[in-house]
Amino acid sequence: MKKTLILTSIIVLAALKTPLCASPTLTVRADQAGVKIAPTFVGLFIEDINFNGDGGLYAEKIKNRSFEFPNALMGWTVLNGNRGDAAVIQKPDYNESNPYCLRLRAEEAGLGVSNEGFRGIGIREGENYYCSVFAKTAAPAMSFRVEVVAPDGCKLLEGTFDNIAGDWKNYHILMTATGTEPKARFNLYVTTPGTVDLDMISLFPADTARMTDRPIPGLRKDLVERMAAIKPGFLRFPGGCIVEGMTLANRYQWKNTVGDIADRDTIICRWNLEFKHRLTPDYFQSFGLGFFEYFLLAEQIGAEPMPIINCGMACQFNTGETADVTNLQPYVQDALDLIEFANGPADSRWGRLRAEMGHPEPFNLKFLGIGNEQWGPQYVERYKIFEKALKGKYPDVKLIAATGSDPEIFPNGAAEVKYLWEQWRVLKPDIVDEHFYRRCEWFFENTNYYDSYDPDGPELFIGEYAAMTHGVASPENRNKLITALAEAAFLTGMEKNAAVVTMSAYAPMAGHVDAWQWKPNLFWFDNLTSYATPNYYVQQLFSLHKGERVLPARLDGAKGRLYTCASRSGDEIILKVVNAEPAEADIAIALDGVERLQSPVRVITLAGDPDDENSIQNPTKIAPVETTMKIGSAPRLRCTFKPYSLTVLRFSAR
Ligand code: AHR
Repeated sequence: MKKTLILTSIIVLAALKTPLCASPTLTVRADQAGVKIAPTFVGLFIEDINFNGDGGLYAEKIKNRSFEFPNALMGWTVLNGNRGDAAVIQKPDYNESNPYCLRLRAEEAGLGVSNEGFRGIGIREGENYYCSVFAKTAAPAMSFRVEVVAPDGCKLLEGTFDNIAGDWKNYHILMTATGTEPKARFNLYVTTPGTVDLDMISLFPADTARMTDRPIPGLRKDLVERMAAIKPGFLRFPGGCIVEGMTLANRYQWKNTVGDIADRDTIICRWNLEFKHRLTPDYFQSFGLGFFEYFLLAEQIGAEPMPIINCGMACQFNTGETADVTNLQPYVQDALDLIEFANGPADSRWGRLRAEMGHPEPFNLKFLGIGNEQWGPQYVERYKIFEKALKGKYPDVKLIAATGSDPEIFPNGAAEVKYLWEQWRVLKPDIVDEHFYRRCEWFFENTNYYDSYDPDGPELFIGEYAAMTHGVASPENRNKLITALAEAAFLTGMEKNAAVVTMSAYAPMAGHVDAWQWKPNLFWFDNLTSYATPNYYVQQLFSLHKGERVLPARLDGAKGRLYTCASRSGDEIILKVVNAEPAEADIAIALDGVERLQSPVRVITLAGDPDDENSIQNPTKIAPVETTMKIGSAPRLRCTFKPYSLTVLRFSAR
C-alpha cells in the first residue's frame, strides 16, 4: 500500500457549523455496537484453475517431471537424438502411482532432453535453485550436465551430476542463478555414454514459502505472501469444479494428494478441456500442492482451513454422474478420514500419516463443505447421508451445504435454488453457500440482498463471487476498477448483514497471464512475479478494516451509486464509503454517541478511472493510498469522496 503522512486534499474533513442537510447524511450510532463481524468474513478460495497449482503456487519448474502425462514426452524435447535414443518406458520395477520413467540410451555424450516449464521457467538472478533427479543405471557410473538457458542462449544456471550409479537413488545439486528471465528452458545432457533411467526431474527455488519457522514444502513464496497480505479468515480448497471432476473418476481424491510426492498420482486437470476457446492440453495435476501442504498453508497464513469434499456427484455442468446412494460409503469414508487426517491424534490411522509428514499437532479443522455446486433432490439425498455420518462422529465440525451455482447460469437455476433453500430451512445445515457471477450492475443494485435473510437461519457463505464486465467465464472479462467497486458496494451490504453473512470469497483467486482459462481473477502472475487487481485491494481493505462489530449506519439523501457501512474495533470507528459516480461525493457524517474524536484520522483510498486495470508492467496503477488527516474533536464532519473510489476512514473516538 502506498503510504503518505501528509495532510491530504483527497478528502476534506471539517467540523460542521452548518446543519447536516445540504449533502447526503451518514448517521452512525457509534455507541450501539451491534452483531459481531466473524473473523472469517473475508477469506480466500484456492482452486487449481488458471495454473494456480502446478505452474503457480506449486513452485516446481519442470512440467511433466515424472513422465506420467498421457502424451508421455509432453513438455520435453529430445536433444541430439542422433547420439542415442530417449524414450518413456514403463519402469521395470513397476510403481502403480508413478509407473513411467525416461530411459536415455546414450551412444555418445550429448544426448539429452529439454523441458519448457510452465509457459517457460522463471529464474531470478542471485537466487539458489535445487535440481534433483531419481536415477538408476546399470552402467559403471554416469554423469550429466544440467543448465537453464534464456531464449537468447544465455546460461542462467549450470551444474553437474556425477557418479550416478546403481539402483534408484535421489541426487540433487544446488545452483545459483546468474541472470533473471521469466521464460527460460531446462536442459539435461548425458556427459558419459551409457543407459540411465530418470524420474522426477525437478527444479525448485531453494527459497520457498515460509511464513513461520516451519517451511511449507514447495510453495512459491511471492504468491503465498500475496495471499497472506489479505489476512484471509479462511482458505477454501480444492474447489470448485475440481472437487467434482468432469466424471467421478476424475474427481478430487484427497488421499492421492498426501504422502510421498513421488507417489501421488498425476491426473488431467478438468480445466484442461473445459473451454474450447481456452484449451490447455498441458494442464495436469501432480498434487505437489496436496492436502498436507494446504493445511500447512492455511495454518501459516492464519486462515481457517475449509476443505470441500466430493459427495458422490460429478460436475453437473458436465456429466453430472452420481454414485448410487447405496454405494456412497467410500465417499463418506473419505470425508471422515479427511477430518481424522486434520484433527485426529497422531496414533490414529490418518493422524499418523499427518504426523509422519511432519505435523503431529492437529490442524484444528472446523469447517467442511459437502459438494461444490450441487443441486437437485439427488444432492439433498446425499447431503443427508453425509450429515448423519459426519455429525455422528464429529458434531463440532460445521458443515456447508451448496445452493447449486449462480442461479442465472445453470438450468432452471432460480427454481433449483428455491427448492434447495426449502430443504435447508428444514435440515438446517450450519452454513449455506451461495455463488454470484454477475455483471457490475447487479452487484450495485443488490447491496440489500441479505437484508431479508433470517438471522436465525443457517450462516451464509458467499463462497464464490465476482463482478463481470462481459459474462460468466467470458475471455473478454477485465479486472477493471468499476468491477471492484461493484464488489465493494456488495460487501457493504454483506458487512451490514454480518449477522447472517459470516464468510465470503472472491473467485477464482488467481490466474497465470499466459495460461488462464477463466477471467476475471483476484491476482495475476507470471513465472517471476504477480500483481494485484483493484478487486484484490477491495478484498484486502474489507478484510483488514472489517472491525469487530457492526454499527448501525443510515445514509440519507444519497443520489446515485453511493454505499456505506460502519463498524467498531475497540475505540476505533471504521467507515467504508463506495462512491461509484463520476463526481465527488460530499457527505455529512454524524458519529452519534461519540464525545470527542481524536486527530488524525487514517484515510485509505482506492480510486481511479472506472476502466483502470493493473498489469505486470504497471502493477499498482490502482492501489490503496493511505494518508492521515488532522481533524477537530467534534463528531460531526463533512467529507468529500473521490469519484470512483472506495475510502476507508478510521476514527479514534471516545
Ligand atoms: O471459480 C471458477 C468455477 O466457477 C468454480 O470451479 C465453480 O465452482 C464455479 O462454477
